[in-house]
Amino acid sequence: MNTSIVRPAASLPLELAREMRSNHAGETGAVWIYRGVLAVSSNAKIRSFALHHLETEERHLQFFEDWLEPSQKSWLLPLWRLSGWVLGAVAAAGGLVWTHASIEAVETFVVKHYEAQFAALADHGDEELTAAINLFAADEASHRDEAAADDSKRSLILRAWCWIVGFASEQAVKIARML
Ligand SMILES: [Fe+2]
Ligand SMILES: [Fe+2]
Repeated sequence: MNTSIVRPAASLPLELAREMRSNHAGETGAVWIYRGVLAVSSNAKIRSFALHHLETEERHLQFFEDWLEPSQKSWLLPLWRLSGWVLGAVAAAGGLVWTHASIEAVETFVVKHYEAQFAALADHGDEELTAAINLFAADEASHRDEAAADDSKRSLILRAWCWIVGFASEQAVKIARML
């Protein structure tokens, strides 16, 4: 799939345009999570995990960058960048187990977020957009599963952090749909 073609989304129904704005905001956050990880960690395993994921997230982000009109993007992009960076930095500061657990928490939410769009996408009928979202959902599921394969013991504080990460991701998406 060529994700570099400019596909303005002016004709999207309002609800779907809102979903795409939240997707763009979410992929912005994802790119900045890994920038935060890479800014903080010198651990080779963490860095290679982050670099590999960052490449995928940059592709996802580029798709929505090209696809949406500037006016359809979230007004709060600086906040999504900052929150992503802080999330990644805290996760990386905690080490490999924290990084894996945090990414699992984010991606568990993101997979559900993308899957919830499948019905509206099928109704809308844009095959290229539907194929892109399907592909991204599969990428996020593989990120989730890769992170979840780390079965190291998770402390109570880490489990609380992961709950906060999942909850905050959900709230951010609700806000990004509107603003
Ligand atoms: Fe992504
Ligand atoms: Fe991802």
